[in-house]
This record gives sequence, C-alpha cells and structure tokens, in this order.
Amino acid sequence: MNKKFSLIIHGGAGALDHIKREGKESEIMDSVYSILEGGRQILADGGTALDAVEYCAIRLEDDPLYNAGRGSVLNEYGEVEMDAAIMDGVTLDAGAVAGLTAIKNPIQLARQVLTKSEHVMLIGKGAREFAQLHGFPLMPNDYFFVESRVQQWREAQKLGGMMLDHENATSPKKLGTIGAVARDRQGNLAAATSTGGIVNKRWGRVGDSPVIGAGVFADNETCGVSATGYGEQFLRTVLCKMVSDFIYFQRLDARAAVSAGIDYLVQKVDGLGGIILIDKNGHCAARHSTSGMIYGLIEKEGETYCSFVQSPEYFAVG
Ligand code: GLY
Repeated sequence: MNKKFSLIIHGGAGALDHIKREGKESEIMDSVYSILEGGRQILADGGTALDAVEYCAIRLEDDPLYNAGRGSVLNEYGEVEMDAAIMDGVTLDAGAVAGLTAIKNPIQLARQVLTKSEHVMLIGKGAREFAQLHGFPLMPNDYFFVESRVQQWREAQKLGGMMLDHENATSPKKLGTIGAVARDRQGNLAAATSTGGIVNKRWGRVGDSPVIGAGVFADNETCGVSATGYGEQFLRTVLCKMVSDFIYFQRLDARAAVSAGIDYLVQKVDGLGGIILIDKNGHCAARHSTSGMIYGLIEKEGETYCSFVQSPEYFAVG
C-alpha cells in the first residue's frame, strides 16, 4: 500500500498527418484525457491495476476512433476479427482471445479467460462459445461497421493487399491498436492490448496483440508493456518480453528500456511501431519508430499528460 499509482495508454502508432489535416487531433486528445481521468478515479479509489487497464481498454474499444472493438478494421471478407490480451504482473496470469467475432469488448473476454478458464488463449469459434457460456451478448455485424473502416477496406481491396491501419500514406484514415498499462497503489502492474489487426487480413491472421510476450507483458519484478505496430515484427522479436528482459537482466530504467526495445525492433527486423511501459517503480515511458504515436499518461499520481507525437523521439517523465 501507499505507493503512488501510474497509468499509461496508447491509441496506436503510425503516420498521423491526416488526423491533423482533418482537425481530429483535439477529439483524440480529449478522448485520451477522458479515459486517463476515468482510470485515475479507479486507481485513486484503490482499484487494481488489472481493473484500470481493463477499464481503459474498454473505453478505447468502444470509441470508433481506434482500431479495436467497435472501430476495428475489416478483414478480407469485410468482417471484424479481433485480438486482445490482458496480463497480471503479480502472478503472470494472462488471458487472451484471437480471431474473435461479435463480442463488444474483447478485453473483457480476455479477462474472463484469465479468471475463469484454465487456459491462456482462446480463438475463433471456441472463444465465442466461451463468451456465450459466460453471458456475453453477441453483437450484430452493424455494431462494428464504421463507415470510415468500410471505405478503408474497399481501398485495400482495390489495391489487393493487406495494410496497417495507421502506417502508409495510401489511406486517409488510420489509427491503430490500443493498449494500457497500470501500476496500482499496491505496486502491482498489469497490461492490456486490443486490436482489429491489419486491414484486409487473410487466412485467420493473428498479430502480436493477443500473444503474451509479443504484444503485451507484465511482471511486477520488471514492468508492464503494451505494443502497437506491425504485429509480425513484434511476434518475431517477442518485443514486450524482450523489453522486460532488458530490465530484468540489465537493470535498465523505464526510459532506457523502451529505447533499447525500439532500437532492437528496428535493428533486427526494421520494425514499425511503438511501446508504452511502466516500470516497477512507477516510471512511465513510451517510444516509437513510426512517425507518430498517440498516448497519454499519469506518472505517480501527477498531472495527466496527453501526446500526439509526430516525431520518433521517446518520451518519459521522472
Ligand atoms: N499490432 C496489431 C497487429 O498487427 O495486429
């Protein structure tokens, strides 16, 4: 008890120029701010880090601005298939869902997998059955069909390829995967990541987000981490665990750890993406190799800071 809580969230990394052009920057920053303030309330009231990251991820999934939950990108069949994972830094317990359809908040189902199943990851039809068994309603397709996503999918179909929601210049509307990391007043860490994946994805493609160690990781001895970017690159580098290992084996601080992680991603696989992190001491840090990243943080119960970063610099306070 008596530790100061910290919270950091992200709404994806990528080229953000179009958001500025469309005048949506303040809408996004307002949304990041409001979600952080909601998370602050939970942590200030003595809520757990797991509760806080689940809450933040649900809010991000419900907002069609982000590529997760309601605003998920569409796969090659024009359907939404979502991935999500949540991890508890106290026990290393984790829950994940992949290739999920019709569930409003995949992160809630991931938490249910963590608490109510003896497994770590459930996929597709089975995950949906598990959801129904635990009383999750099935949403109609319409709930997920956001007009901008349909346009983006049509564009990708025309080009005949898959694309990141938020990276290249061929589509005017791109925002990415979401994530949250928290440290509560007990000093416990948790992390969550949720996504619709990449536009026009095929063959049951699953990215890094639901894979423990790749797109999410939390361990009270080191840090909590959530990633956004090209899933394949984060899978191949097991990046979130790698960052935790930098702290475990090399005793890096938060800032040095996110730098080492993104340097590793770039050097090894020319990777595109970003990570957010809180270390066991409650220090927050974020870094990305993309031209921009959307995130916000509360470090040790300090002021709420929101960033719409357009340079690949890392940020850290404290
Ligand atoms: N990072 C999200 C994905 O590639 O699916």
